[in-house]
Amino acid sequence: MKKITIQNIQDFKKSSSPFATLTAYDFCSAQILDAAGIPLILVGDSASMTIYGYDTTVPVSMNEMLLVVKAVTRGVKQSLVVADMPFLSYQPSVEQTIKNAGILMKEGGANAVKLEGGQHVAPNIKALVNAGIPVLGHVGLMPQSVNQTSGYKIQGKTDESAAQILKDAKAVEASGAFGIVLECIPEALATQITRVLSIPTIGIGSGNTCDGQIQVFNDIVGLTKNKPPKHAKQYADLYTTILNIVKKYQIDIKKS
Ligand code: KIV
Repeated sequence: MKKITIQNIQDFKKSSSPFATLTAYDFCSAQILDAAGIPLILVGDSASMTIYGYDTTVPVSMNEMLLVVKAVTRGVKQSLVVADMPFLSYQPSVEQTIKNAGILMKEGGANAVKLEGGQHVAPNIKALVNAGIPVLGHVGLMPQSVNQTSGYKIQGKTDESAAQILKDAKAVEASGAFGIVLECIPEALATQITRVLSIPTIGIGSGNTCDGQIQVFNDIVGLTKNKPPKHAKQYADLYTTILNIVKKYQIDIKKS
């Protein structure tokens, strides 16, 4: 069983069908994704909500992210593990960026990091790549900026904002990122970016034309009490399934 490399992920750009990626936050789900042959697992800062119960991705700390990254990498043999850099772990300076990405890789065992932003984080991406740290970019809807954007809205709907997202995506590529997440942008814009860039695009809520797709694991298996976002196909209702199992267990214990 060979470990997936950055080169393997980049080779998907030439593939005729899109590749599937998912998030994971613990040992058990990481083992499942690895066994299924998911090539790239993102330890998303969505752990802020799925694991820690915060309302947004803003509060999750480096220490909290490090714990989930460690759990995931212990469960993975083959998949490439990308660790999300939490809010304010890279924005303050290039030095902070390298220090914190280093912690996620050296202590957490991640193979790469992801950070949100375009032109303004280009120096951070360049410095990481120069330090030997592979970077997955992320443009479009950037959940860490939810306070700035006044909510989770589709980005790139006007000509001006579409042009800015295209510029940002190009800046991410020029800085040396090995791939880029396009979150919640119109499909036409995602198609254009996918054509223009030579690195793979991984879409979420951005139509079907990206080189790959990503979803939050908890959304597709129905592990959350809340309804998943519209773009996430829910394949099961594990919340209810597990709830019923626990209720049956309770009844059995009472009977015995
Ligand atoms: O944190 C996250 O879950 C993400 C998405 C791209 C899936 O960044």
